[in-house]
Amino acid sequence: MATKTHVLVLILPVQGHINPLLQFSKLIASKGIKVTVVFTNPIETTSLAGNESELIKFECIPERIKEKEVPENSAQNQDAHEARIQSLKVKVLEHLPLILEGKASSGEPVKVVVYDSLVHYAYDVAKELGIQGAAFFTQSAIVSAIFYHLHEGTLRLPLQGESITGSLPLVPSIFKQQDMPSFVNDSTGAYASILRFILDQSLNFHKADCLLINTFDTLEPQIVSWMVSHYPNVKTIGPSIPSMYLDKRMEDDKDYGITLFKPETQACKQWLDKKSSGTVVYASFGSLASLGDEQMTELAWGLVNSQCDFLWVVRASEESKLPRNFASELAGKGLIVNWCPQLEVLAHDAVGCFLTHCGWNSTLEALSLGVPMVVMPQLSDQPTNAKLIVDVWQTGVRLLSGEDGIVKRGEVETGIKEAIVGDRSIELKNNAVKWKQLAKEAVREGGSSYANTEGIVASILGN
Ligand code: UDX
Repeated sequence: MATKTHVLVLILPVQGHINPLLQFSKLIASKGIKVTVVFTNPIETTSLAGNESELIKFECIPERIKEKEVPENSAQNQDAHEARIQSLKVKVLEHLPLILEGKASSGEPVKVVVYDSLVHYAYDVAKELGIQGAAFFTQSAIVSAIFYHLHEGTLRLPLQGESITGSLPLVPSIFKQQDMPSFVNDSTGAYASILRFILDQSLNFHKADCLLINTFDTLEPQIVSWMVSHYPNVKTIGPSIPSMYLDKRMEDDKDYGITLFKPETQACKQWLDKKSSGTVVYASFGSLASLGDEQMTELAWGLVNSQCDFLWVVRASEESKLPRNFASELAGKGLIVNWCPQLEVLAHDAVGCFLTHCGWNSTLEALSLGVPMVVMPQLSDQPTNAKLIVDVWQTGVRLLSGEDGIVKRGEVETGIKEAIVGDRSIELKNNAVKWKQLAKEAVREGGSSYANTEGIVASILGN
């Protein structure tokens, strides 16, 4: 039997990175390419085994250096963050060549390594072995461009309240300092290491064989065309979400496949099925963000005071921050779960708006499913995504924090009502439906992301 063309996909095991990269892996495997997905840290093997197929196999780089428990917002932990970043690099540089050489000697040579752009040194490993390297960016095109220009020194950070014009082309002048990714605005203490880690993804812009971005052309038209004109290897391939949500005929492709948290699927479905169309607020802050106790309290009472039904994902690690007996006293008006099947929830007819932290995947999923958003960005690229949602795509309402940085319950209540029942809600919904249509067109035969993916597959399969 002829050897199948083999691609290795290197993924950081963080939910917001697993989902789009795994979906891309499934897509190219569906075209007959053999894919080995390698995670940079061990993850639960039962979850991996259940997702293997003839064309997709999983492996993990073993963890060798014990990572310290570091509180996310603690500025004094720069050393621990630096150690983590270095440990990742040491592990990848040691194990990736062994994996690639092992594949070659077992008669399954890898032709292309697709790597999470944060693990940029995977490109050098691939090149040493005569293998092509393609970077996969899990953030928007505009955020990738901001990081690129900061890295190159061609973008000056704006001062408080200024717009980021300067030498960053095509960024709308409505973007101000507070709309920049958070680590750009606060690069003190531990964040200094994180900012460098993030900016280093741009090191490969000039040399990678392909730069894959999880966005679509009509969503970010100016920035994408500027990028492509300067770097023809830039290819938009998004939204990288299971095709069933974009094309109902493909019912076998209905989830990402690997979740680091256990979804409470039945409980969510049964509860949502009892609710009327467009009435439920779905609230979630993704897999990483952690709100303070006071913020959780304000959010909890804001949701209750909105008088809307709500489904709120509160990860197990965050549950103790809820007001006492909160979940048990909701009497059917609210459901709190530790994790949910988010795409199924967003696709449910009962959901009227999404109160979100604006992670890039959540943003793309809401746009692709036509769900208006109430935005409450936390960290990283989320402030920039929030700006796009509210002021560029006009499909969301922003919640403003007080001087103490807390979004108060009254603000939550008003924002939800505006998005779900107020006059503005109709306009938001119409805009959301427009983006849903454009997302579908991008991945449909003849669409920009479809054509780019076909081109990539053809070049992988070609000689
Ligand atoms: C992070 C960053 O926030 C994001 O902006 C970055 O670009 C990628 O990494 P995260 O904070 O977890 O990710 O948010 P998000 O990007 O929205 O990804 C979360 C994923 O988990 C989404 O695909 C979402 O569908 C899924 N999810 C979330 C669930 O399946 N169930 C849940 O209950 C919550």
